Amino acid sequence: MIILGIESSCDDTSAAVIKDCVLLSNVIASQKVHEAYGGVVPELASRAHQQNIVPVVSEAIKQAGISKSDIDAIAFTRGPGLPGSLHVGTSFSKGLALALNIPLVDVNHLHGHVLAHFIKDDENTVVPSFPFLCLLISGGNSQIIKVNSPTDMEIMGQTIDDAAGEAFDKCAKVMGLPYPGGPYIDELAQQGDPNRFKFSKPHIEGYNYSFSGLKTSFLYTLRDNIKLNPNFIEENKADLAASLQKTIIDTLMDKFDKAVKATGIRTVAISGGVSANSGVRAAVQQYCDRRGIKAFIPKRSFTTDNAAMIAVAGHFKFLNGETCDITAPPFARVVI
Ligand code: KG4
Repeated sequence: MIILGIESSCDDTSAAVIKDCVLLSNVIASQKVHEAYGGVVPELASRAHQQNIVPVVSEAIKQAGISKSDIDAIAFTRGPGLPGSLHVGTSFSKGLALALNIPLVDVNHLHGHVLAHFIKDDENTVVPSFPFLCLLISGGNSQIIKVNSPTDMEIMGQTIDDAAGEAFDKCAKVMGLPYPGGPYIDELAQQGDPNRFKFSKPHIEGYNYSFSGLKTSFLYTLRDNIKLNPNFIEENKADLAASLQKTIIDTLMDKFDKAVKATGIRTVAISGGVSANSGVRAAVQQYCDRRGIKAFIPKRSFTTDNAAMIAVAGHFKFLNGETCDITAPPFARVVI
């Protein structure tokens, strides 16, 4: 079964082709236009998607070595995301599905991140067994998900304010680092002392996360120290980055450990942009190795937004007989 996946929820336009979950192509056009603004500008993102979508889809089909008539269904990101951006991918997918007279499958972007672990290099690729626990950490979400099957996921806990990626990006911004700051913090942290600064950790019941207090405590540390030394950030950036990263990782692992113990599940995975972080990857691997738990750490290319994961999520929904109507509108927030 050949699925064309289309992703346009935020600032990356992507198209991918999979055959029975084996990746044939995955083309991503990133939008550089936002860098000057320190964050994604929604209107500019929609316009860039409009410019990119036709060449990106054509290139994905070409690289896959198939022709349009080989495609069995089109899977597209219906939400959550930026409304204007989602409209471009949704409208394009509908138009192409109509023209080719093939079914449309609407995909929840977050399910796509979780199911990125099912993108195969070939038929021998090992994938997680069900149920597994997934720590989904991205720029907009931080969730602990119990994945019962590709189409049955339960959210055990999630952030009540900022996401882990937002904590990285907002703290990086006040340090004067480019957007998105997560990868810069990751790099700086490798030369810093993670125990040099202490930032506040949340005390939230259950499996939920909170990262806004950490952001405030980070800001206060900068403010108090800059009064004494105007070069404080420049002189201490590696230690600041390492201490910030350690606090985020400890917070993530604390609740994840609780969920692993409560469910007794022995297979875990991490997904989303923040799962590219070296410290997070090492912490999860070490946690699992110590307990004999099987860990799935994604390839870095599948941690951030990509259409391959959307195609895979669409593959499973399509197998389950779930297609969507041509009138389906995109959703800024999750309802599917
Ligand atoms: O999954 P994603 O591409 O977008 C959403 O769907 O939200 O995640 C983007 C987030 C950004 O916050 C970015 O700073 C973060 O992932 N990120 C990282 C790293 N690479 C990307 N955070 C920490 N360390 C990294 N290496």
